[in-house]
Amino acid sequence: MDNPLRTLAAIDIEAFQKELISWYEREKRDLPWRKDRDPYKIWVSEIMLQQTRVDTVIPYFNNFLKKFPTLKHLSEADEDTVLKAWEGLGYYSRVRNLHSAVKEVQEKYGGVVPNTREEIRALKGVGPYTAGAILSIAYGIPEPAVDGNVMRVLSRILLIREDIAKPSTRKIFEQAVREMISHENPSAFNQALMEMGALICTPTSPACLLCPVQKFCHAFSEGVQSELPVKTKGKKQRRVSLSAFILTDETGKTVIQKRPDEGLLAGLWEFPTVEQEYPLIYEKSEFSPVLREKSGIDAVVERKAGHINHVFSHLVWDIDVYEGRLLSPVPENEQIRIVSGEDILSFAFSVPYQKMVRKYYLKENGAEEE
Ligand code: ADE
Repeated sequence: MDNPLRTLAAIDIEAFQKELISWYEREKRDLPWRKDRDPYKIWVSEIMLQQTRVDTVIPYFNNFLKKFPTLKHLSEADEDTVLKAWEGLGYYSRVRNLHSAVKEVQEKYGGVVPNTREEIRALKGVGPYTAGAILSIAYGIPEPAVDGNVMRVLSRILLIREDIAKPSTRKIFEQAVREMISHENPSAFNQALMEMGALICTPTSPACLLCPVQKFCHAFSEGVQSELPVKTKGKKQRRVSLSAFILTDETGKTVIQKRPDEGLLAGLWEFPTVEQEYPLIYEKSEFSPVLREKSGIDAVVERKAGHINHVFSHLVWDIDVYEGRLLSPVPENEQIRIVSGEDILSFAFSVPYQKMVRKYYLKENGAEEE
């Protein structure tokens, strides 16, 4: 097999660093996590930015820091408050891991985020990318921070045709960054690669004519930038059919349930829900006995109110929403609550259930149509 980094020898690395970093200093976006180098803030921003776009992250980041201004504040917060601040961002295991890692930093390191790769990688939810981002951006340590965007940029500059869907490929790019990174300014170098991926070297139609490092780019000189990166298709998404029940008592209060502490959307709240794989196993008339058996809820299901569809990275939820009446009081505990119109908004729901709350329970005008 060819050496995937053979093109590195042809690049004047010092000139490359200079062009890249001066472009970054000129053009970088004014983002709230770039105002200082507090490792806690960098950490929060990098966790939020995994799988979520910068525009979406900005208001969440500002709100999260208002609620939990320091690592100590976050370490002392209760989990429901933390989940509520993350509500709508998705991939909730990110924040559950962040929360437990922050508690560990508070206990074990007196609240100071460690500055070695070994220690920081040992924290829950801190993978090689996040470790490199914190070490370089907050501490100025020349460590690679390679995510999908950085792989796209470098696959073009260095004409690397390795499949970026394969987990082992990241190591090739980390090696490239180790050889290319500026030791004077590792923070600007890594952020410049991220910024290039966002602003210039985009997945489709990259703006090569505006690129500050075009003259170093092997893909551009061969005219193959649109063929890179090579990425094989992942598995097909699984479809799951859900029936969710908005069950109210005579005062209009409704019952909500907490999801288990492990697995998809762990610890978030939702209306009582029955999950079915295709082909469907229950008919509408069968829901009352199922609710009684699964959740101890005595209710009659009266009508179908609508439908909500939600796409996760690996899963599609088709949710039929039903309305019904509670026939007897529901015993409340940690996992099951009866709430009123105003109270429901203080619980953290996943995005499809937030939509359901607004549209079918609070019946807000203009709540998202599906
Ligand atoms: N994407 C991931 N990390 C980022 C950062 N620090 N700034 C902008 N975009 C990013």
